[in-house]
Amino acid sequence: MATDAVEKEDEVSCEENNDIDPFTLCEGIPLYHFSMINDLHRAKAYHIAIQQAVSAVREKKESVSVLDVGCGSGLLSMMAARAGSKRVYGCDKAPGMADCARGVVAANSLQGSVKIIPKLSTLISVGDNEANDMLDKADIFVSETFGDDPFSESFLPSLQHAREHLLNDGAIVVPRGICVYARAIESEEILNLNSLPSTQFSGLDITDWNIFSRARWSCRLLDHSFVALTESFQAFEMHWDDDAQPIELKQCVHRDLCAINTGKLHAFVVWYTLDMFQGCPEISTDCNSSAMTGRHWRQAVYFMHEPKHVVKGERLSVSVSLHRDRLFFKSS
Ligand SMILES: C[S@@+](CC[C@H](N)C(=O)[O-])C[C@H]1O[C@@H](n2cnc3c(N)ncnc32)[C@H](O)[C@@H]1O
Repeated sequence: MATDAVEKEDEVSCEENNDIDPFTLCEGIPLYHFSMINDLHRAKAYHIAIQQAVSAVREKKESVSVLDVGCGSGLLSMMAARAGSKRVYGCDKAPGMADCARGVVAANSLQGSVKIIPKLSTLISVGDNEANDMLDKADIFVSETFGDDPFSESFLPSLQHAREHLLNDGAIVVPRGICVYARAIESEEILNLNSLPSTQFSGLDITDWNIFSRARWSCRLLDHSFVALTESFQAFEMHWDDDAQPIELKQCVHRDLCAINTGKLHAFVVWYTLDMFQGCPEISTDCNSSAMTGRHWRQAVYFMHEPKHVVKGERLSVSVSLHRDRLFFKSS
């Protein structure tokens, strides 16, 4: 009888949950938000940098205005308000997220200084009357729109637009720079997270399913067996603290590398460090970083179209290109 009851309960809950995508909380909000907000290393690094940035502006002017692009839960906006900013504008393009952030801000009694704007940052208007989203341009740009794949959430175009339309000259950017690193690897195990091998399963060929494979994937590198085919190398280094320097949305770098092992080049693995603000702790998404326990970020994996056989000692010419929000790797 007891088993029967449990089975019936299970049936009911399955039916009720039929439409729920397990990876989405609501209105397209990805489930990763819980692990992201629980990543205290991430939160502390932003907290310290925001406090320092607000203090630096307050040394020069009395009232500080902050723009938090992709405010999500509102956490960074509230940190900016608590640090002494007069006005904080947090925007999020996901309406459900912005609604929730508004509630969170009110629950913390910060609605007097934090305004949540339910918009893509590039649609925000600035002007000295209530019809506009922002009353004034911001002195500080804060954003945590960095995925495992560093630029996939369009940080660079958002910053470029904000500099032109939403920020005062000389505005501080948090984080103020990034270093992107990569290394070539062989890993059947990681390859198999995203594709089916050409070997047949007891005579059954299901490789047509590979139409669903993606050029990019994410995983915790150390959870899988792999062979490093090159040392890690720096792909890009960018600094955003000088607004006289344009934001380059298209870049390409070439690296001449030496294969350190023999194997099949299946993919390039990518991680990065964020330089938050002068003298402040960095954020790293490196799997070898000692502080990775309890961390939200994984490593981005870029698969090669065709695995390439590499021999130890061979020279590898690798080019990495950035096109707005995507990275591309080529090796010859
Ligand atoms: C990684 S989550 C942000 C988390 C949040 N800053 C926090 O620390 O809790 C990224 C959010 O940015 C939003 N987003 C990305 N680019 C945006 C843009 N240009 N304007 C508005 N929202 C943006 C997405 O909808 C998403 O909710």
